[in-house]
Amino acid sequence: MASSLRRPWSRDGKAESGSWWCTSSLLVLVLVGFLLQWNELLYRTAPAQLKHLSSSSDFGILGVPWCRSRNDSKVSWTRGDLIQGLQEFAPIYDMRPIKNNRFGMGFDHSFGLWFMARWIQPEILIESGAFKGHSTWILRQAMPTKPIISITPRHPEKYLQKGPAYVDSNCKYLAGKSFIDFGNVKWQDLMEEYGIKDYSKVFVFFDDHQNELRRFQQARHAGFQHLVFEDNYDTGTGDHYSLRQICDQRLVQGGGHSCSKDSKEALLRAARRKNWEKAVDIDELCGPGGAWWGVRGQMRDNFNHSFVHITQEEHLENFKQIESSLEVYWELPPIAAPSLTHQRRYDPARATDPIITDNESKLFVQLGLSSLDKDLFNGYTQMVYLKVSQ
Ligand SMILES: C[S@@+](CC[C@H](N)C(=O)[O-])C[C@H]1O[C@@H](n2cnc3c(N)ncnc32)[C@H](O)[C@@H]1O
Repeated sequence: MASSLRRPWSRDGKAESGSWWCTSSLLVLVLVGFLLQWNELLYRTAPAQLKHLSSSSDFGILGVPWCRSRNDSKVSWTRGDLIQGLQEFAPIYDMRPIKNNRFGMGFDHSFGLWFMARWIQPEILIESGAFKGHSTWILRQAMPTKPIISITPRHPEKYLQKGPAYVDSNCKYLAGKSFIDFGNVKWQDLMEEYGIKDYSKVFVFFDDHQNELRRFQQARHAGFQHLVFEDNYDTGTGDHYSLRQICDQRLVQGGGHSCSKDSKEALLRAARRKNWEKAVDIDELCGPGGAWWGVRGQMRDNFNHSFVHITQEEHLENFKQIESSLEVYWELPPIAAPSLTHQRRYDPARATDPIITDNESKLFVQLGLSSLDKDLFNGYTQMVYLKVSQ
């Protein structure tokens, strides 16, 4: 009896040391097995296994909420339309005057902007945030004869002195000394100047890194219905409050986050952070008091030159305001799977399924996309189209 009570680590426990080793080895095996399985789950999207990207997910294993469209309304274009669009757009993109558009749009969003502007067939196009004029050029390719209004503090012609830029001859520039913020433009007067009475014929594109809640309110107040936001940053990232952030709410499917260090989300985020530049771990996601909304509880604005802390209740109110006047919300999918583009920035688990999937490498080549510089696929930030109800 006495010996059976003796612990295996006791000096004279020789008789039991055999069974102790057996038990320990078994435990180690179980532990290793568990870790391997967990590792498999965490690294499902590791670059070495790019084929296993979350292509069948709705919005990834971490869950990302969509802004809810009224009555479940959808956009009128299909994946087939997008693929056909890509076929037309690839050679157009090749002709772009600004080959190096660092700090501006890359391939995915250039295509999205061109496609949506052309699909909607507006009578006039407005852009806020032009930089060297790449997006103006894209709008011009979509609508060759329609007027454009471009609002941007520095006139794109200034960039011409240093290198490639684009200045459009049928564009009214509210730039340089004539710069006036989108929210201060007398839109009714300006639209009258162009003979625009039907505001459903106006296409508005924002790439100015301003709080998207404010821009949404201003555009709605003006009566505009078709809005595209270039940088629709994910929760915990970016330099301004975005639609994606606003719709990340606990009451929405896939919305809300956990700031607990022991949570499954914390582990998943830590692992994904290693593989995807723009993925954020729990420390980056969460601010004081477990504030996960916006960026660490901040509503950021103007390239993060300013921000305010908001409560979760205020965040929810912002969402309700947007949702009450949102007819359609549609995020442009990434053009192609990371196994084809080799992009390493956005986490595919936080994006919708790409237009060209892992298994469609032939199509990727046929469309001429395989010859594009890989950096051009790095700028995807969930460009979004909104149809606003009036
Ligand atoms: C990311 S860049 C735009 C890139 C451009 N759309 C492209 O595709 O190349 C952002 C631009 O917003 C401009 N900007 C800053 N504040 C602005 C404001 N209040 N209204 C409009 N544009 C603004 C910046 O000067 C800059 O040119």
